Amino acid sequence: MASKGKVGIVGSGFIGRGWAMLFASVGYEVKLFDVESSKIDDALADIKLQLNKLEETGYLRGNLSAAEQFNLISKCETLKECVEGSIHIQECVFENVDLKKKVFKDMDAFASDDVVLCSSTSCFPASSFSEDLVHKSQVIVGHPVNPPYYIPLVEVVPAPWTDPEVVTRTKNLMTDIGQKPVVLNKEVPGFALNRVQYALLNECWRMYRDGIMSVEDIDTAMHEGLGLRYAFLGPLETCHLNADGMLDYCNRYGQGIHKVSETFGPNPRMEGELAEKVHEEICKISPLEKLAERRQWRDARLTALAHMKRLLTDQDKAQ
Ligand SMILES: NC(=O)c1ccc[n+]([C@@H]2O[C@H](COP(=O)([O-])OP(=O)(O)OC[C@H]3O[C@@H](n4cnc5c(N)ncnc54)[C@H](O)[C@@H]3O)[C@@H](O)[C@H]2O)c1
Repeated sequence: MASKGKVGIVGSGFIGRGWAMLFASVGYEVKLFDVESSKIDDALADIKLQLNKLEETGYLRGNLSAAEQFNLISKCETLKECVEGSIHIQECVFENVDLKKKVFKDMDAFASDDVVLCSSTSCFPASSFSEDLVHKSQVIVGHPVNPPYYIPLVEVVPAPWTDPEVVTRTKNLMTDIGQKPVVLNKEVPGFALNRVQYALLNECWRMYRDGIMSVEDIDTAMHEGLGLRYAFLGPLETCHLNADGMLDYCNRYGQGIHKVSETFGPNPRMEGELAEKVHEEICKISPLEKLAERRQWRDARLTALAHMKRLLTDQDKAQ
């Protein structure tokens, strides 16, 4: 089977494995490297298991069989072998800026003039670890959401010196593997997803701190309310549909929203007695000793939701 090109994955943990499966799902040749060689063996064994299970349950992505996808993924003994000849490198090492600087410097030495060097970092802007590189115009952030196999969003964030062509190529590649890229035009702390998530978390903590709601009811307001809507529509289109267009929404509700928002006050700190109380309440709903079980339940639900969304999108396209 002809591959669509070589993609290198640096770091074979949770995120590296997810990316490897995504690239292989549409036919890229994936080369996996990790500083600890045994971790790559563990990752390959885990990927094989995951792919077979996905095939059995009907949730495997792409048109290739699990075996064909697995055969596209292989181990690299050196970083050089991983980077040379690749069209795209997806860096997935620990979230530590000094480590990112070191890994990008090491990759820089083997990089061709047109490979894209993409970081999975959750919070470091590309400018914080690429400034001194020879190939700095080829560095970009492609921030996935965990688990990337089921949550398609990728935040594509260029540094001020990233070549616009690299932004386009990264966006196109993410689309090609079935992900949903969004591009941030400039670097901002937290990127987009976490800024929105933190705004939400801040208000949840405020409401709990002020005795307005229990932890359980706060979470319920999300998964039985806003969350359902947001699985299909963004907050902006939600406004648009909830009135006769956005301008009508602004006329009807804009002032009220501003008035309520003015009462939010400073952001609470997630620490001390308040953190202990939230922890105690959440443990009653989701006991610490059952976290692994609950995570499995979460992943199964996300898998089913992602699958259903894909089916519905196909139906929309067919109409
Ligand atoms: N886990 C998440 O929820 C999540 C979500 C989005 C983005 N990310 C980001 O993805 C990246 C990876 O996270 P993860 O959860 O997969 O971490 P992880 O701890 O599961 O895996 C990190 C891997 O990197 C390897 N590594 C460390 N130093 C290395 C080096 N010099 N060269 C090659 N490999 C090296 C480790 O051996 C390990 O296997 C981080 O930047 C993280 O912020 C994580």
